[in-house]
Amino acid sequence: MTKLLYIKASPRDAASRSVAVADAYLAALRAKTPDLEVDVLDPWTAGLPEFDGDRANAKLTVFGGGTNEGAQASRWDEIVAIAQRFASADRYLFAIPMWNGGIPYKLKQYIDVIHQPGLLFGFDPEKGYLGLLANKQATLVYTSGAFSLDFPSPAFGVDHQSSYMRAWLNQAGIADITEIRYQPTILTADPEGDFERAKAAAAAAA
Ligand SMILES: Cc1cc2nc3c(=O)[nH]c(=O)nc-3n(C[C@H](O)[C@H](O)[C@H](O)COP(=O)(O)O)c2cc1C
Repeated sequence: MTKLLYIKASPRDAASRSVAVADAYLAALRAKTPDLEVDVLDPWTAGLPEFDGDRANAKLTVFGGGTNEGAQASRWDEIVAIAQRFASADRYLFAIPMWNGGIPYKLKQYIDVIHQPGLLFGFDPEKGYLGLLANKQATLVYTSGAFSLDFPSPAFGVDHQSSYMRAWLNQAGIADITEIRYQPTILTADPEGDFERAKAAAAAAA
């Protein structure tokens, strides 16, 4: 069995272009992977905890080699359960619109919740970060209204969307990354043609 975790970072449901392109990838992957188990995570509706004082303190306690007590311990247990759901997947599929040059804040909140010492990464004072997730694959679908790799930057935006996602996944140990871009979705003379081509590219990538 192959477990795929599908993370939908756009809150626009049926109107979302990144979700539609990611859906095309998933449909093609399902067709050729009969044992695929899909777990869908919508960070907008998942009831993610705030990464507040107790939780930040719990993280730093673990990072420093200590043990959490009291409220911090129960907050940490909750964080561990959410991170383990992520770590238990074999493959990841992300639908990610560009928001203000980066990723939507609910996806960043999810990453802040799950990116934990001893779960997704270790740290060596000599060597730096060590990714703890091995043999995983991630496919990322990016959309943006105006930004395009073909347009001048910074005039049409700066891509902190893919650079952040790659850096974070690499730090967690995930180096096998496929990126599918439908960019731009607005500043194009042929949005529907580009959309169809992006879905076909996604299906081919699967
Ligand atoms: C809050 C917000 C911020 C956005 N920021 C950018 C941006 O910085 N650069 C850009 O090119 N498009 C930006 N857009 C446009 C979206 O990236 C674009 O419409 C994309 O296709 C949305 O993906 P979706 O259909 O999956 O939601 C922004 C849209 C929203 C709602």
